[in-house]
Amino acid sequence: MKVLFTGIQPTGELHIGNYFGAIKNWVRLQHQYETYVSIVDLHAITIPYEPSEMQNRILNLALNLYACGIDRENTTLFVQSEVPGHADLTWIFNTVTPLGDLERMTQFKDKARQHRKNVNVGLFDYPVLQASDILLYKGEVVPVGEDQVQHIELTREIARRFNARFGNTFPECKEILTETPRIMGLDGESKMSKSKNNHIGLLDDKETLWKKISVAKTDPARIRRNDPGNPDICNIFSYHRLVTPEEERKEIAEGCRTAGIGCIDCKKRLVENMHRELGPIQERYNELLLEKDTIADILESNNEHCREVAKSTILEVKEKMGLKPVWKI
Ligand code: ADP
Ligand code: TRP
Repeated sequence: MKVLFTGIQPTGELHIGNYFGAIKNWVRLQHQYETYVSIVDLHAITIPYEPSEMQNRILNLALNLYACGIDRENTTLFVQSEVPGHADLTWIFNTVTPLGDLERMTQFKDKARQHRKNVNVGLFDYPVLQASDILLYKGEVVPVGEDQVQHIELTREIARRFNARFGNTFPECKEILTETPRIMGLDGESKMSKSKNNHIGLLDDKETLWKKISVAKTDPARIRRNDPGNPDICNIFSYHRLVTPEEERKEIAEGCRTAGIGCIDCKKRLVENMHRELGPIQERYNELLLEKDTIADILESNNEHCREVAKSTILEVKEKMGLKPVWKI
């Protein structure tokens, strides 16, 4: 079986961008591959964070992911910093990665702008750590949202460079996107993101959904109830594409174009459909809250499995690079 590898940062509550943009694919694909999902805490510490909250965030993210449908038995969900090989391989890959490649990364440029006072070397090196995550397990498929595609391209490039210099070791991975790989925030202006306060939380109840959606922007040209609207440019309609069945969606689009349905009704139906999709996840999450200790045990045993896999890749790499004493080979 080919290896599927992906990661997610313990940086805040999950949102529907994470779910419909990426996690849904992890759940769909997890049985077709040998699947690893990493909670990437070493990535999360490249931006300011509160140390006393970190362990709760990690465990809570695990509960959320299991509630979304990640399979406890078959999928290896683990904590990145518990596996030494990630940082080791990052150092090695640093030595085959040109500075210019990292300078081009758009996520680095964005984050450096957001955190002007803390543009640390780790933030710059973030994509190399990501390449190490994937290649430590010889991952071949990487399901992510669109914002990560550039990092996956870089991973391929790093694998190529390493293989050319030290012999064929790593596969060239490819990204897998969902049908909705870039979900916009409630502001309609930028990508939905934990840090921008423009998100719909995976655990938002019906009341919260209404509070957020009722005030969100629609087609700006539709001012009065009787003005016709254009669903193709309406952010609210883009959310209907995530949760509303096709027939109903067509009817809403038609109603919007002919002013047969108003924005408030359209939003009410969105809340209903969104709640129908998120409700079962929230129920499973509440059940899982009672099983925290079991989940912590599962993570620990998965970490151990990953340490074994990582160790064997690192040994192979060291041998190829002349870092293993010959008297031990
Ligand atoms: P965030 O960007 O909210 O901090 P992460 O960086 O932890 O979230 O991303 C986890 C996964 O969710 C990644 O595969 C990422 O590409 C995806 N993702 C995040 N935000 C969106 C979005 N708005 N639309 C689609 N996918 C997204
Ligand atoms: N950088 C990814 C994000 O922000 C998270 C991540 C870290 C990742 N390592 C990975 C994703 C390896 C895929 C594969 O979403």
